Amino acid sequence: MCGIVGYIGGEQAAPILLDGLARLEYRGYDSAGVAVYTGEELEVAKAKGRLQVLSDMLQGGRAIQGCTGIGHTRWATHGAPSDVNSHPQVSRSGRIAVVHNGIIENYSALKQFLERQGVPFTSQTDTEVVAQLIEYFYEGDLLQAVGRVLHRIEGAYALGILCADTPDQLVAVRRDSPLILGVGEGENFLASDVTAILKHTREVIYLEDGEVAVLTREGVRCYNHFLQPVEKQTSHVDWEIDAAEKGGYEHFMFKEILEQPEALRRAIFPRVQDGQVCLEDFPLTDEDIQGMRKIYIVACGSSYHVGMVGKYNLEGLLRLPVEVALASEFRYQQPIVDDRTLVLVISQSGETLDTMAALREAKRLGGKVVSIVNVMGSSIARESDGVLYTWAGPEIAVATTKAYSTQLAVLNLLGLYLAQRLGTVAQEEYQTIVQELLLLPAKMEQVLENRADIQYYASQYFNHASVFYIGRNLDYALGLEGSLKLKEISYIHSEAYASGELKHGTISLIEQGTLVVALATYSRLFEKAMSNVVEVKSRGADVLALTTEGHREEMGKVANGLVTIPDTHPMLLPSLGVVPLQLFSYYVALMRGCDIDKPRNLAKSVTVE
Ligand code: M6R
Repeated sequence: MCGIVGYIGGEQAAPILLDGLARLEYRGYDSAGVAVYTGEELEVAKAKGRLQVLSDMLQGGRAIQGCTGIGHTRWATHGAPSDVNSHPQVSRSGRIAVVHNGIIENYSALKQFLERQGVPFTSQTDTEVVAQLIEYFYEGDLLQAVGRVLHRIEGAYALGILCADTPDQLVAVRRDSPLILGVGEGENFLASDVTAILKHTREVIYLEDGEVAVLTREGVRCYNHFLQPVEKQTSHVDWEIDAAEKGGYEHFMFKEILEQPEALRRAIFPRVQDGQVCLEDFPLTDEDIQGMRKIYIVACGSSYHVGMVGKYNLEGLLRLPVEVALASEFRYQQPIVDDRTLVLVISQSGETLDTMAALREAKRLGGKVVSIVNVMGSSIARESDGVLYTWAGPEIAVATTKAYSTQLAVLNLLGLYLAQRLGTVAQEEYQTIVQELLLLPAKMEQVLENRADIQYYASQYFNHASVFYIGRNLDYALGLEGSLKLKEISYIHSEAYASGELKHGTISLIEQGTLVVALATYSRLFEKAMSNVVEVKSRGADVLALTTEGHREEMGKVANGLVTIPDTHPMLLPSLGVVPLQLFSYYVALMRGCDIDKPRNLAKSVTVE
């Protein structure tokens, strides 16, 4: 949720920390801070607001001298965003500084304990407890003190720790919150995300849960939870830094929308060979697949919406029950999972805490877990029985676009792969879908070319206070995503309804001028979709419709505004249909002057429950 960077080496630390934080700001952006060892003491600078405030205060980092430091960009959980609650948090002597992602669940009891020992607190954060507790146990050996603290704190955390008494080292710890180490020459790094350090090194070490690392200028040593040394592999990151830069676009979101055809090519093309779907390293044997009795799809937010589309597509292809669960609900709803259940976990970041917890619960119950993940080496990828990467490249905008599209493509590929093994899809149908999948990137390019139309509709409707998305079946699943996209970046109230449900209550909200985005791409239910359009229009709604080229004329007769997508196999309609909805949200937010890449109250990766 928040971003962490640490540096130890021969260069000035503060500019490196600020640059790394700038690349992590999408993870949290209500305040930021750094702590640097100046040669005698720790100098700490923190500021509420965007990173730019801190950067201006420090003249881009020139105002603090020193070659070892830690930095943080925050998305507040404990304690409101303020200078004092920003990280780094320091111990009472000011000699130990801590940056932290996650939540220390038992911080209140620990705080009371320390207060009874006379330790004064200055912030409302759970993180200050960690800094104070390390100092409480510190007897000249930072690693040992951290080790003692780890046996007392509960919750999820990634920690970067710097002590003025041992400035030749940084200590890093992770449990249920991502943290990687960057290995350089004469310098080393820690970061919550590889993008923060990619400018300096491509060699990274992924820390496992419960592991601790000590970084010096010369090297990195890793330990388990009991501080016994462990050997770690270094991995090479091979994507380019410009993949995580704006490249001349005003917003990451727009860049990422436009990148979708290319991302789809990466996700689909290598997995289709001679007209057959090939999933390398798929963990289920043919026998496992034949034995499957049920599929669960577990995810949050937009990834959950991918699961909603997946339910329709997979049930149609496999003739097996597919249940879609919100990850945050899954583990509390007594899910029925056993060794004949395939659990598909979908997550762009691979770090969403609710999704991670659901994964663990599914494994505990004996389910076979396959994840669809974008970030290589992420926690969800590593804990799954098998992983299908989406290869979308780094996604920086908080509102997901290319991750959604590639997740959907991979889920469809998986459906085809399983259906062929189960013998539940006719060969001709299989070939048609595969061919259409291969055509998808080019068709998506056509949709993107028509973006001026969508920009025009955004200019007509950007002032509306409330928007309804209606659709049936796959169009309903698509509406969920369109509605979320709009509300998260434009702050317009919006809801998605299964059209058939309107008459059960929601239609009472439709009045003169209400904007209804009617999704009518699914041919089989087109006539019913038309009836719903007429129904809301006769109550005064303004209807912006989305349909396929084939239905342009008919829909054009009733809708106030019309956007079309090329015809394709029904299973793939949401993959094309989502693009105009992403663009509509983007242009509406742009016209409303919203902070598109960093919408209020949100963060890219949600590593708290
Ligand atoms: O990284 P994940 O896919 O697990 O993230 C899940 C949701 O937090 C995410 O999709 C969120 O809903 C997006 N901001 C939507 O654009």
